[in-house]
Amino acid sequence: MKVIISDSYEELSKKAADLFISILQEKPQSKLGLATGSSPVGLYKNLIKAQKEGEISFHWAKTINLDEYVGIDPQNEQSYQYFMNDNLFDHVNIKKENTHLPKADSNDEKYTEEYNKLLDEFGTRDLQVLGLGPNGHVAFNEPGEFLNKRTSIIELTDQTIEANSRFFDSKEDVPKYAISMGMADAFNAKTLIVIANGKNKKEVVKKLLKTDKISTDFPASLLLLHPNCYLFVDKEAIED
Ligand code: GLP
Repeated sequence: MKVIISDSYEELSKKAADLFISILQEKPQSKLGLATGSSPVGLYKNLIKAQKEGEISFHWAKTINLDEYVGIDPQNEQSYQYFMNDNLFDHVNIKKENTHLPKADSNDEKYTEEYNKLLDEFGTRDLQVLGLGPNGHVAFNEPGEFLNKRTSIIELTDQTIEANSRFFDSKEDVPKYAISMGMADAFNAKTLIVIANGKNKKEVVKKLLKTDKISTDFPASLLLLHPNCYLFVDKEAIED
């Protein structure tokens, strides 16, 4: 794992964008794995700017996302579909039919099967953007006795509901389930671009940088197995 430390979130976002941009420039038909959450917002802003300035084009690119809440309307401002449109897709020259997010109206397994089929067709991505949960979760793969290999419907932990409630009117409004790629799918990319910024990521970053153990109790530790993983952190996430 290569650790890149920046003084500020702005600098971190610029550095992560530089790596993303170089991959897309080299291969305009790149298959891009994307993530939601506050961490990649700055990266996406830089990508929008780079596309507007003609540095990159999304015309030939395809995207696939990690996760989505179960039973949420895509028009709902808290849905990950809405987030992706609002933070990236609506502002760049990507063809909407080339963008993919999981969708599940209920806990029915047919939704996970559909997404796994899509992932199989999609194949290995050129890059995958990832954030980290404060408890070390990756996508919505929560710490536990085992981790899912492939897409699953996951019951969110109280800690994740709490962490994500900042985007909702109240904690009660946060959906209880999510559909999420499993660990094998989430890491099926040639390059991982992991972003962890701000004080509330200090514990998870500290643990990740210290550990030499791979554990399902700490899903982020599996990043240590990937041969080409870049961890972008800002000072706030690393300094005591
Ligand atoms: C959410 C998402 C993750 C994301 C994480 C961190 O629960 N499912 O994919 O990486 O939390 O979010 P944030 O970037 O807002 O801290």
